[in-house]
Amino acid sequence: MAAQMNMLSNVDLSTANTLRLPCQAERFAAPATLSTLRETLATARRQGWPVTLLGGGSNVLLPKTLSGLVVCPALNQWWLSQHQGHVLAHVGAGVNWHRLVMATAARGLWGIENLALIPGSCGAAPVQNIGAYGVELADTLQAVQVMELATGRIEWLDAQQCAFGYRESIFKGALADRVVITQVVLRLSRTPTPRLGYGDLAIRLAGSSTPTLSPTPLAVAEAVCAIRREKLPDPHELANAGSFFKNPLVPDAQAAQLLQPYPAMPHFPQEGGQTKLAAGWLIDQCGLKGMRDGAFGVHQQQALVLVHFGGGDRQGLMKTADYIADQVETRFGVRLEPEPRLINPN
Ligand code: EPU
Repeated sequence: MAAQMNMLSNVDLSTANTLRLPCQAERFAAPATLSTLRETLATARRQGWPVTLLGGGSNVLLPKTLSGLVVCPALNQWWLSQHQGHVLAHVGAGVNWHRLVMATAARGLWGIENLALIPGSCGAAPVQNIGAYGVELADTLQAVQVMELATGRIEWLDAQQCAFGYRESIFKGALADRVVITQVVLRLSRTPTPRLGYGDLAIRLAGSSTPTLSPTPLAVAEAVCAIRREKLPDPHELANAGSFFKNPLVPDAQAAQLLQPYPAMPHFPQEGGQTKLAAGWLIDQCGLKGMRDGAFGVHQQQALVLVHFGGGDRQGLMKTADYIADQVETRFGVRLEPEPRLINPN
């Protein structure tokens, strides 16, 4: 069977995850069409192999060994269509997210330009509702196509059904390990809609080589890239998974209490009586920026990013992460939670 032929055994995934955690997969397949994906899943079901889904590997904490079958969808096509004054981008799960951002921005399309340089694949983007510089995937997402693991059936979800929240979605909840995301449909626009309110994005654009009051989506994407390159380590040079911790949500009253001794603490009131705090700031205040603990450490420029210098594994990383979370909890009474997904926790 074709799907069987494309299956590899004993695959080293240490370069398939941006944290470069050692991981040996018993079997690995990267189906490039819906029918091969369906066949691959059917084979796994027949053989009783547990299936682990992997995208670009930029937001996962992999264990040393993964038994069963790792499936990495290689659906690499994307195309545009017109719909009620919008431009819809239909994007296969395997397309690289950053390449999509730059390609649509270069075509003058607005919508995802603030999400430039986020690593990973388009199929993984809805799972944690990727977000940066005041924009989340949820803002432009029209629909997600999924294949049910148990049946191979194709289903469509609209944005509401995806139950998006801050770094959250149904794909982490009720549909976790039940579906493979095969395609995302994004609603883009030719009408200028720059969103420059976050941080120093507007200042950065004004100071660019071609300052203008009406920037192009490409200029915004390039400004975002420049800011990210300054703060976030390139995973090709220093292994990392972007923000390691989520920014914690605390009740407004707790934030108000913390603001008394720490009036400069960054805080962002949300709906529902909650305030978002900056995990990077909390870690930084504990004096942990740049700290090293064996194979792992806290990035010099951004305390929210944990880096892997080499030679460590997930257990070591979680030890370092727990130490950091303990320090923050002792000082601020707030427990930080990892942002990347723990694959096969035990
Ligand atoms: N801060 C410090 N010290 C640090 C890091 C941050 O004091 O070491 C302060 C900053 O000065 C700022 C505040 O904390 O006042 C927030 O920092 P920043 O604007 O850099 O954003 P962030 O909260 O650290 C979040 C996302 C990033 C995203 C940026 C920009 C999360 C967990 N992280 O980071 O997402 O790129 O905003 O929108 O929500 C990712 O998810 O992997 C990621 C990189």
